Amino acid sequence: MFPSKIIPVIVIEEPQRALPLGNCLIENNLPVAEVTLRTDRAIESIKIMSGIENLVTGAGTVITVDQAKAAVDAGAKFLVSPGLNEKVVKFAQSVNTPIIPGVVTPTEVEQAIDLGLDLVKLFPAEAVGGANLLHAYASVYPNVKFMPTGGISPHNVSDYLALPNVIACGGSWLTPSHLLKQDAFDQIGQLIKAASFFTPRS
Ligand code: 3PG
Repeated sequence: MFPSKIIPVIVIEEPQRALPLGNCLIENNLPVAEVTLRTDRAIESIKIMSGIENLVTGAGTVITVDQAKAAVDAGAKFLVSPGLNEKVVKFAQSVNTPIIPGVVTPTEVEQAIDLGLDLVKLFPAEAVGGANLLHAYASVYPNVKFMPTGGISPHNVSDYLALPNVIACGGSWLTPSHLLKQDAFDQIGQLIKAASFFTPRS
C-alpha cells in the first residue's frame, strides 16, 4: 500500500499549501502523505492532495467514524488512528479503505488481529519501548506488521526499518510545520532528499 518506507506525517493549516506540498513530495520521490485531522481545514487539504497524480494521500489522527467518513469522501486512500477504535476500524473495512490503528500492548495487538488486521501502528513508538518492543513482538506475532510512529527521526529510523515486522515508519520530521508555514518547500525538499536513503520501497 505504501510506496515508501517513510510516511510523512503532516499538520497543514492552510489548504493553499496542499498543492505545493504534494508536488514537493512527488518531486522528491516521496509520493505519500498522511494528512492529520488536527486542523480545521485538513479535509480540504486531503481533497486537494488526493487530486495529485501518483501521490498516495491518507488521513491521520482519525479518531471518530465521522472523521473517517469525511476523509474517505475527500479521497483518502488510507486511514491512520492513534488508538484502536473498533467502530472506526469496522467503518474503514466496510468501505474497503486500509486502516492502520495505533496499538501499544499485546492485548491491543490481539484485538487488532481479532478485527482482521495484519498491519498496525505502534504509537507513540519511542515512548513505549520503540524498536526493542517491536523486536519482542516479531516472534510472538509473526503475521503482524507495524508502522511505528512517534519520536522517529533520522537518528533512529534505521533501527526500526531493520526489523522484519516493520514495513514503514511515520514521522513529522520531513515536513515540519514551521517550514510549511514559511512555504519553505526547498528546505522541505532538502530534508526529504537527506532521508532518501530510507525512502524507496525495494
Ligand atoms: C504525531 O503524532 O504527530 C506523529 O506520531 C508523528 O510524531 P513525531 O512528530 O514524533 O514524528
